[in-house]
Amino acid sequence: MDKENKTSQSDIVESSETDVTPKLEDLARLVLDHNDQGSFTIPAEGLYPHQWLWDSCFIAIGLRHHDIERAKLEVLSLLRGQWANGMLPHVILNPNTRDDHGHKLRDINLWQSWRSPNAPDDVSTSGITQPPMVAEAVVRIGDKLKWPERRAWYKMVYPALVQYHEWLYAERDPHHEGLVLQIHPWETGLDDSTPWMYELHSHLLPLWIRFLKKSGLQQIFGWFRSDTKYVPAEERASNIEELACYSVERRFRRKNYDFDKIIDHSLFAIEDLVFNSILIRANQQLKHIAKSIREELPESLRESMAKTEKTLEELWDPYANEYFSRDFVTHRLLKESSVAALLPLYAGSISKERAEVLVRLLENEHRFGPAYPIPSAPLDSPWFSPIRYWQGPSWVNLNWLIIDGLKRYGYDDHAEALKESTLEMVGKSGGFYEYFNPLTGEGLGANNFSWTAALVVDLLRK
Ligand code: GLC
Repeated sequence: MDKENKTSQSDIVESSETDVTPKLEDLARLVLDHNDQGSFTIPAEGLYPHQWLWDSCFIAIGLRHHDIERAKLEVLSLLRGQWANGMLPHVILNPNTRDDHGHKLRDINLWQSWRSPNAPDDVSTSGITQPPMVAEAVVRIGDKLKWPERRAWYKMVYPALVQYHEWLYAERDPHHEGLVLQIHPWETGLDDSTPWMYELHSHLLPLWIRFLKKSGLQQIFGWFRSDTKYVPAEERASNIEELACYSVERRFRRKNYDFDKIIDHSLFAIEDLVFNSILIRANQQLKHIAKSIREELPESLRESMAKTEKTLEELWDPYANEYFSRDFVTHRLLKESSVAALLPLYAGSISKERAEVLVRLLENEHRFGPAYPIPSAPLDSPWFSPIRYWQGPSWVNLNWLIIDGLKRYGYDDHAEALKESTLEMVGKSGGFYEYFNPLTGEGLGANNFSWTAALVVDLLRK
């Protein structure tokens, strides 16, 4: 953990009382420059040495304000990882990294993407995806371009985007029901969020992991974890949760990333609320791109898109007055509350009445109203921990998504208040942390984290 940087950055931030805003933006740009690898940006040095899918989208949204060509490159560099079936992988592995023991290619060997005939030949990637933020990043970049350049930009990326969205439906909506399913917690971007971990602990843990848990032997796995070398273990997912994630990943590898084999006996098969809300917005953006360049989206894709918006309503629970994720097989709602409940605001497809209920939920100080919102698990959840990863801390990217949703539904004051508290939280922490203690505003996880920096730039420019 780089606590030294924290001191120096907070000195700079606080040195000028009259002109704090431009300083914060300058510092954010320094972080982005520092993590720049030429054509893509790593999320943070050490802990995250590769390129992540939704990270790069958020990063491009920030980069567009001062270097539009670099922002485009950030998105284009994601497309080089696209699989022949259309999947955009959640990580494009950086061949120039070494682990703590100086071993090159550790993560590349972990994924072994070459086992799939669909994987690209020239880059190694993971074998799963992440929330489809790409269309949003493409349009945000487009907004900064004059028409002829915007047209050229949209035309350049359109085929890859269509292929990706078609893959999402073809592979992840096998029953054509409208929602797409996720097979690994890492696909949601909220790695250890409470609904997924509740499912894991209550009935999904494989027997051998249950045995390790009972005997306390899971501690041994802790020695092999690389994340806890950079960040205190109590701020990360637990050993059992990580072990389960890695064991699921190894099964995918054994099945050569063949979805039909994976889905049969898949440990996780969940229609995640965050993922599907983001997909709805991405579909709207893809439609906008198609319309702008006078392209016709394939009919089956248009039908699926419409179905997703309709089916999101099936995730509404009238008893809890909340949206939840759903089990793909049984259609049981996973009623463990999390920040995901607010993401349908970003989807923008829900009714005004539903949006109003979500805004009331956001206002509820016993649930989502700590000093530095928005907590990733509600304050009244039995899971809530102010420091543990996606089980309590506030994250700038989720705030950004919810700010966007609030604006679209006309809640400008709420959006402005959330923007101000987000910027205050980052400024006060004295760094650009990965996540923040919602009770104190203290920065947690990796420092100099790229999407925090990029989205601070974007929020300051709004
Ligand atoms: C963590 C986050 C994930 C992010 C990745 C790289 O795994 O949970 O959302 O993409 O780090 O920053």
